[in-house]
Amino acid sequence: MSWIIFLLLQLCGANRLRGGPSTRPSIRQLCQFSNPTWIENIAVRSNGQLLVTLFSSPELYQIDPFDPNPTPELVARFPNALGILGITELEEDVFAITKGNFSSETGNVAPASFSVWKADLRGGTPALSRIADVPAATILNGVSTVKQGSKFVILADSMAGVLWRVNLETAEYDIILNSTATQPTTPFPVGWGANGVHARDGNLFFTNSDRGLYRARIHDDGTLGGRVEVVANLTGADDFTFDARGQVYLSRGRDDVIGKVTSGGELVTLDTANADAPVLLEGNTAVAFGRTTCDRRTLYVATNGGWSGLVPGTAQVGGRVLAIDLGE
Ligand SMILES: *[C@@H]1O[C@H](CO)[C@@H](O)[C@H](O)[C@H]1NC(C)=O
Ligand SMILES: *[C@@H]1O[C@H](CO)[C@@H](O)[C@H](O)[C@H]1NC(C)=O
Ligand SMILES: *[C@@H]1O[C@H](CO)[C@@H](O)[C@H](O)[C@H]1NC(C)=O
Repeated sequence: MSWIIFLLLQLCGANRLRGGPSTRPSIRQLCQFSNPTWIENIAVRSNGQLLVTLFSSPELYQIDPFDPNPTPELVARFPNALGILGITELEEDVFAITKGNFSSETGNVAPASFSVWKADLRGGTPALSRIADVPAATILNGVSTVKQGSKFVILADSMAGVLWRVNLETAEYDIILNSTATQPTTPFPVGWGANGVHARDGNLFFTNSDRGLYRARIHDDGTLGGRVEVVANLTGADDFTFDARGQVYLSRGRDDVIGKVTSGGELVTLDTANADAPVLLEGNTAVAFGRTTCDRRTLYVATNGGWSGLVPGTAQVGGRVLAIDLGE
């Protein structure tokens, strides 16, 4: 063991760096919310703390992934909404979050109830403010900045099956894509179209839960250039993230697995050592990598406890936050 790895083991705790390319990674449960709780999305702060959004109540929680047994801490409760969904970092410790009224019990969506809000966590007390109401949208799910410092965010509307662009300064919005790639195959809530969305290095990636993972060039003003390409054909994809090599990890909560699309475009299922992996991953909704030296290769996973897909023979549980140490 080289001294640098020895030092990291001391700093990070041995369990984070256990394993290697030849061993299958293990899933650790960090915490579980009360039943029922639908955790919808995860963002990681620059200090390494996890932020999770709840779809079953309009609340944002923070979780310390370095505590072996963390208690979720309520950061903010959003007004006039049943739930919050997508989250993206606009600048350090400032996040854009989508909120609106969707009943996870009935599938009913309140018309014109969706908006984009800002959560500013830079001061002592978190400050919430409205960025824009988007009354023409039906269900604003994933959200992404176009790039660092951009004044535009892109929003995935799973029911209308379109991608919206919102100008953070003027609150104006418009549709940047409405095509087969964004539309559900059957009407919502049986079908879900555009779901997760993330810009990376001038490309916009998005999932369509009924169809797969797509990619298109994105300009600085949030408009798309060129063709929309299919990265992978698959069903049941929710939100997703990238590792340092550009491989895509996808939540697939309908099937209780995590998918991976290699840089070569091959779709595989993440294999773990846990015998009860499908139960732990039941209804997984979002994934995110850590941002510190200790957890850059740790994939954090949020679940809705089975709301979107139960392993046969199991009952719904509260949403979980899990950690999977992938090794180098
Ligand atoms: C959304 O739900 C909240 C909380 O129940 C309620 O106060 C608000 O009026 C609802 N808005 C719409 C547009 O249905
Ligand atoms: C998307 O395009 C379809 C087909 O052209 C159209 O019927 C639908 O109204 C469009 N959606 C929105 C939100 O404009
Ligand atoms: C996805 O499916 C379409 C239609 O069957 C096919 O033309 C395309 O090659 C597939 N793309 C990938 C990346 O598998």
